[in-house]
Parts: sequence; structure tokens; C-alpha cells
Amino acid sequence: MLKPGGILAICIDHRELFRLGQMLDEMFKPQNRLAVINWQKIMSPKSHDTGVSTATEYVLVYAKDEEQAKTGRLAHSEAASGSYQNRDDDPLGPWSPSDSTLMGGPTHPAQVYGIQNPFTGKIHYPQEGRCWRNERPKMKAAVEEWGVKYEDRDLDDGLHPALVIKGVKDPLAADAKDPALKSAVSKATKRRKAGNWPRYFWRDDQRRQPGHGELRYKTYFFEVQEGVVPTTFWASDDFELLRIDTVSWPHPVSGTTDVGVKELNAVVGRGHRFDTVKPMALFQNIITLWSPPGGLVLDPFAGSGTTGQAVLALNAATGSERRFVLVEQGRPSRGDPYASSLTANRLRRVVTGEWASGEVEPLGGGFSVVTAVLTPRRG
Ligand SMILES: C[S@@+](CC[C@H](N)C(=O)[O-])C[C@H]1O[C@@H](n2cnc3c(N)ncnc32)[C@H](O)[C@@H]1O
Repeated sequence: MLKPGGILAICIDHRELFRLGQMLDEMFKPQNRLAVINWQKIMSPKSHDTGVSTATEYVLVYAKDEEQAKTGRLAHSEAASGSYQNRDDDPLGPWSPSDSTLMGGPTHPAQVYGIQNPFTGKIHYPQEGRCWRNERPKMKAAVEEWGVKYEDRDLDDGLHPALVIKGVKDPLAADAKDPALKSAVSKATKRRKAGNWPRYFWRDDQRRQPGHGELRYKTYFFEVQEGVVPTTFWASDDFELLRIDTVSWPHPVSGTTDVGVKELNAVVGRGHRFDTVKPMALFQNIITLWSPPGGLVLDPFAGSGTTGQAVLALNAATGSERRFVLVEQGRPSRGDPYASSLTANRLRRVVTGEWASGEVEPLGGGFSVVTAVLTPRRG
């Protein structure tokens, strides 16, 4: 059923990994095995385990034809978690505060020295082993964008001369009485209020311990949005994408705190007794990497319908137009696990936004339910 460029991705745990892998190698040929992804299922060891606590599961990824298969890029995880903001109306768009230093202090000693903070008068250094991101003239120009002039001053700290606010009498003990610092505070404050801060900016969060991280560097969203090359290890942090913390349940359902179960609970409510739910982000990653934006995703063991929600959520978030086909059994004689009570129920709720935990933004899109009645063969 796969297209020539199609991909098969199967989630499997350590008990069946080898057998399944051998079978798939035989069917697809080892050269078409694109990846064995190790994803972190739980964060901490389960206390009742006596041996080695299993924290990871696997995704086996095969291409019908490795030469025709295409692997996409993943969204930058910080971008996905919404940490890119635009607090200062920067015309270059959303950015995330990142480190103003780089590794390489020992090899770049000329980039290791103190810089005086124009808001506090404190001298800041790169952390041990690191150096300022840019060479001295560029760093000087960058901090002077705060409207304050700097000069070189030897602080007897065994390093290259520090960049100190011009005219400050005693840089190591500068306080509000120093006229040069007073003027710097006023200029820098005015600059901060004006918005569109310089690329190197001084942190204004007073709750943080003063220290190395005071001078930050803007990493713009447009610079990272082309995405990152995936690796074969997917850490659990990446699976906390949904805002599940808005729903609080007094006890973990089915004795598990799996992200997937929490996500399902939020949509359909508790009591579904389905605990082999995969986290949305796992499937969103797989789909993003291996299904083109107009692709068709087939999940023949749909369970709670995570694949369907992942496709709809990606369509809503990125403007993609993927479709899905989910197959799940429904046995009315046994209370219909799970096709209509769970799979279709979840999808209906995410399409309309009528979650059990309350109204949310509808994902839109739609689906239809088709029932196949299978009659056992006689004889
Ligand atoms: C491990 S669950 C899948 C969970 C799913 N990935 C999720 O996140 O909810 C496997 C599902 O396959 C379904 N299933 C197993 N054999 C099936 C069959 N022959 N036909 C249809 N569904 C089947 C089971 O009912 C079960 O819901």
C-alpha cells in the first residue's frame, strides 16, 4: 500500500524489537531501514522495578525505497514550545534569549574579559571555559547600542582589559553616586523603554541571581525555523508540548502518569480504560519528518486516535493538508472498544474543540466513519 516514496513507522518496545526488526529487514531490506529511534517513555525509574527500569521504546522506520524517501526537519523544540516571543516589538520578529558566550575561552583569551552592566554597574564575565560570542570591537559596538560609551580598563583580574562605562571612577565598586554610572543607568533605561532592543540585551528579570547570564543574545525565530536535523534519540522533554498542566487530575489514571494518557484524558475524560496511548508529540514528529504536507497517513492500529489528532493539530498549526485513515476494531458486544466510543469520540472532540476538560480552540478539519462488517469464512 505504500507509495514509492512511502515510509512505514512502527512503535515497539524492547521485548519485541528484535523479532519485528528481523521481519521488517527481510521484507524491506536492511538498506531501507532509515532509523531505529529510541524515545524516552518515562522520566524517572519506576520504583517497583527490581532490575533495570525500562525508560525507552523504539520506532522502527523503513522506506519502501530509501532513494525515493525524504526525511524532513523537526521544528526547533524551543519554537515548538512557544519560547520565541517579541517583548520589545522587534521588527525582525519573535526571538528567544540565548547565551551571549560560546565555548572556546582557552583558545580565544582575547574574548575573555569583564563587561560592565549599565543598569547595575556590575562587571560580568563569560562562564568558566567560555568567551564572548563576538570579537572585541563587535562586542563593544553591541553594548554601546544601549546609548552608553565604553572604554578599556585593566581590572587586575589577569584577563584582557575590561569594557567599562566611560568615566566611571572605580568600576569594581561603582554605585549610584558615581555620575558616569548614574548617567549610564538613565540612558540605558531610556533605551530599554524605547523597545526594539539591541541584539545583545541586558536581562531585566530581578528575580534571577545576578551573574554571568545578565547579557543575553537574541536568537531570532526566522533563523531557526528551517528546522533541525533529527537524531535517533527523542527525549521526554519534547513530549510535553500540549498544555496538559491546565487540567489537573487528583490521581494518576491507571497508575501511570504518561503524557499520552493525560492528553487523552483531557480530550475525552477519564474512565476510558485505555492506557497504551502514545504522546501526541511522538506522532507529530514522525509525521512531520516522513509525510509530505499533502500526504496520507495510515494507522491500522489506531487505538485512541492519537495519529488522527496529530494530523489535525499539525494541519491547524502549520497549514499542512495531510489526511488520515485510521483502522480500529469496534465490538458492540463488548461495549464497543474502541472505534466509536474512543477513536471517533476523540476526533470529534478535537475537531469541534469540545474537550471533556472544557472548550478549547477547535482544530477544524473533519472525518467520516466507515464500518466494515467482516463475516468469518466457512469451512
Ligand atoms: C497499542 S494500541 C494503539 C494505540 C494508539 N497508538 C494510541 O496512541 O492510542 C493497538 C490498537 O490496535 C487495535 N487492534 C489490534 N488488532 C486489531 C485488528 N486486527 N483490527 C483492528 N484493530 C486492531 C487494538 O484494539 C488497539 O486499540
